[in-house]
Amino acid sequence: MILAQEGDAEQGVIVGRAFSLVDTPPAAAAGELWLVHASGSSVRLLNSGVIEMIGPVTIQGTVTVSGDVLVAGNVSDQHATLADLRSHYDTHMHVDSRGGVTSVPTQQD
Ligand SMILES: [Fe+2]
Repeated sequence: MILAQEGDAEQGVIVGRAFSLVDTPPAAAAGELWLVHASGSSVRLLNSGVIEMIGPVTIQGTVTVSGDVLVAGNVSDQHATLADLRSHYDTHMHVDSRGGVTSVPTQQD
């Protein structure tokens, strides 16, 4: 079902869709809003208040987070991953004042 925005049929908004027994709807709980693509990617507004995005997500522009960022995978930028940086830090040494080499840092966490 498409609603024409301000009477303009070329600027319609999809507000619903008919499903059949062959083409079944996503199993969203009552009160939740799901946008599900045929690729499997989705955006889901869950009853818990969580906004869940499944699939590759691209954000162009600055991302500001006021809370914590929890990452199950790795974090990377144009140089390396955070795991690479930690690995290099954990094993780095310096030349000491007598020309020797220090030991690796004592790990704090
Ligand atoms: Fe150092």
